Amino acid sequence: MGPVAIEERVSCGTAALGKQRYRVFIGKGLLKQLGARVRQHLDRKTCAIISDDNVAPLFAKQVRRSLVSAAFRPTLITTPAGEKSKTLEQAGAICDQMIAAGLDRQSFVIGLGGGVVGDLSGFVAAIYHRCIPHVQVPTTLLAMVDSSIGGKTGVNTRDGKNLIGAFHHPLLVIDDVEVLKTLPRREFDQGFAEIIKHAIIADARMFQTLQRWEAADAAALQRLIKRNIKIKSKIVAKDERDRTGERAILNFGHTVGHAIERAGDYRQFLHGEALSLGIIAACGISIKRAGLPRDQRDAIVDLLRRFGLPTRLPKNLSRDKIFDALKLDKKFEGGKIRFVVTSRIGSAHLSRDVTLEDIREAIEAL
Ligand SMILES: NC(=O)c1ccc[n+]([C@@H]2O[C@H](COP(=O)([O-])OP(=O)(O)OC[C@H]3O[C@@H](n4cnc5c(N)ncnc54)[C@H](O)[C@@H]3O)[C@@H](O)[C@H]2O)c1
Ligand SMILES: [Zn+2]
Repeated sequence: MGPVAIEERVSCGTAALGKQRYRVFIGKGLLKQLGARVRQHLDRKTCAIISDDNVAPLFAKQVRRSLVSAAFRPTLITTPAGEKSKTLEQAGAICDQMIAAGLDRQSFVIGLGGGVVGDLSGFVAAIYHRCIPHVQVPTTLLAMVDSSIGGKTGVNTRDGKNLIGAFHHPLLVIDDVEVLKTLPRREFDQGFAEIIKHAIIADARMFQTLQRWEAADAAALQRLIKRNIKIKSKIVAKDERDRTGERAILNFGHTVGHAIERAGDYRQFLHGEALSLGIIAACGISIKRAGLPRDQRDAIVDLLRRFGLPTRLPKNLSRDKIFDALKLDKKFEGGKIRFVVTSRIGSAHLSRDVTLEDIREAIEAL
């Protein structure tokens, strides 16, 4: 189940986000049209293309050419690839380079890369001259189906992930599925953790589609991306600022997932891999606290395994380390635990009945 050859024409969806709507283009060969498409939405001249040092050598030239042909003046700014670049220091360094390049409040930012670049460039766009437009050009499956949608931007600190950030919706999202051809297999597969999460919390039919998923069906992949964008944007639209608890269901599997990611020092597991394990822990807790049938948990574990995602914790990873990392999670603010559980595939809700002991048990069972 690796990257696939993509056919199919451009399809365009609209992510509805409360008062704000923005367009998401999904299709093949869209990088070449990037300049023209952005031009339809922005009457500005200068921009920063923020990318990482894996993605920039692959696509920045094409993106730059397309922007120049639409009369934009882009400046390319590259960061080292990987989660370690999602820091305040890196955001500051990018801002300094933007100032040095003469970019001002009339400029805009293009984030060309995976979720790391998307979160970091979006954060920079949110704070530069107190907010300039952001165009998301996601280049990983995870970023297409998840991180480019919803307007959450931010960076990590020593103490945890995404502790500093801002809400800033993109002006436009351009998903050129051709870019996925160069994505390493492991990176491609991890995108399915977020897709499976979406199925568990909101779409039982998509869960069945995934159970029948065949590799290399290009049109199906585009439809799948579109469906996931719709699921996420619908949930976000109900609770854009993450205040009422409705948006929080997107965090299913993430409480333990983030702790695993941190315990592995952000090196041992990709985000989607840690999430896979976090989903299994959340299922264990859901059996106990929300009446999830065991056979549904088993079906979820099977599906994660089918997509090459981890379903067991390595023996040598200390469970205590994960448990310590967990307590730093934003969701434990004020000592209260709000944990997302599922009572059946296709639905999820926030529970206040889950105890730290339940979570410890679920981690120990992994
Ligand atoms: N803002 C949100 O709502 C949200 C949601 C989910 C995840 N996230 C964040 O997203 C991040 C994870 O995103 P990710 O998995 O895309 O990670 P990533 O951005 O680190 O990309 C993964 C790796 O693939 C490389 N890469 C990217 N596109 C490529 C391509 N087309 N060809 C070859 N290599 C390519 C990157 O250089 C990197 O090494 C995490 O920081 C997570 O917190 C944010
Ligand atoms: Zn995630």
